[in-house]
Amino acid sequence: MSNLLKDKVVIVTGAASGIGRAIAISAAQHGAKAVLVSDIAELPREGGTPTTHEIEALGVATRFVRADVSRKADVDALIDAAAPFGGVDVMVANAGITARDDGADVSEESYRRLMAVNLDGTLFSAQAAARQMKANGKEGSIVLMASMGGIVGAGMTVAYSTSKGGVVLMAKALADALGPDGIRVNAVAPGTIDTHLLRTAAGIADAAEGFRQRTPLRRLGKPSEIGDAVVWLGSDMSSYVTGIALLVDGGLLAVI
Ligand SMILES: NC(=O)c1ccc[n+]([C@@H]2O[C@H](COP(=O)([O-])OP(=O)(O)OC[C@H]3O[C@@H](n4cnc5c(N)ncnc54)[C@H](O)[C@@H]3O)[C@@H](O)[C@H]2O)c1
Repeated sequence: MSNLLKDKVVIVTGAASGIGRAIAISAAQHGAKAVLVSDIAELPREGGTPTTHEIEALGVATRFVRADVSRKADVDALIDAAAPFGGVDVMVANAGITARDDGADVSEESYRRLMAVNLDGTLFSAQAAARQMKANGKEGSIVLMASMGGIVGAGMTVAYSTSKGGVVLMAKALADALGPDGIRVNAVAPGTIDTHLLRTAAGIADAAEGFRQRTPLRRLGKPSEIGDAVVWLGSDMSSYVTGIALLVDGGLLAVI
């Protein structure tokens, strides 16, 4: 499609399904040198290896790396797996979960797991990538997956919104910390994107049709449309952009 990511090594977490899978495939379509597809398991839904097969078919080097982003050691090993390709240039911390019992009474167990994946995992991913970029003297790009739910709140997603609001601020703080090394850090905040998470998350699934009707573009987003945004933030086309949360929501948060 383009050479926007020419010569770049890209890592995507949570890439065996939904938005992460679309980001990994978009990166390959836009000329990445290598794409590491990572997820907590080989086969949630579409699957890690089937995703690598699609990327291989585009003539791009790839491999599946199992990693639970809430475990720092897993994330460090994931980043090490990029070394044979020349080290990571674009790190996409996409893995994220919802909680079935989210809301004001979310259980301690659900809350802690959600924070462990959505916040700890995102920070560990950014930290490990930045360490390798600095060691290699690379001016990389780190993209964190936030949500429109991290910009506005909803009673049915108290823990989720709390975590994604944290991701938005994490991007700003890391942009400041890593900018002097030429490393850019941005968040992407998707609106309602048609994935398994949207269709199955308690509360969100029920609200999705209402969101669609209120969205100025009157449709759900496609995972590939988040892939396009991430490709731009990963590429040198956004070389003076850091610390933002890029809303990709069909205009939903622009209206009341
Ligand atoms: N779908 C939407 O409408 C929407 C909207 C806003 C934000 N998001 C965010 O986009 C990201 C991707 O969501 P999606 O809709 O593709 O959902 P999804 O459930 O299809 O994909 C999430 C992926 O993350 C993986 N994952 C879960 N826990 C993990 C862990 N501990 N370590 C590594 N991987 C793990 C899952 O196995 C899965 O493959 C998430 O961060 C989500 O919060 C989605």
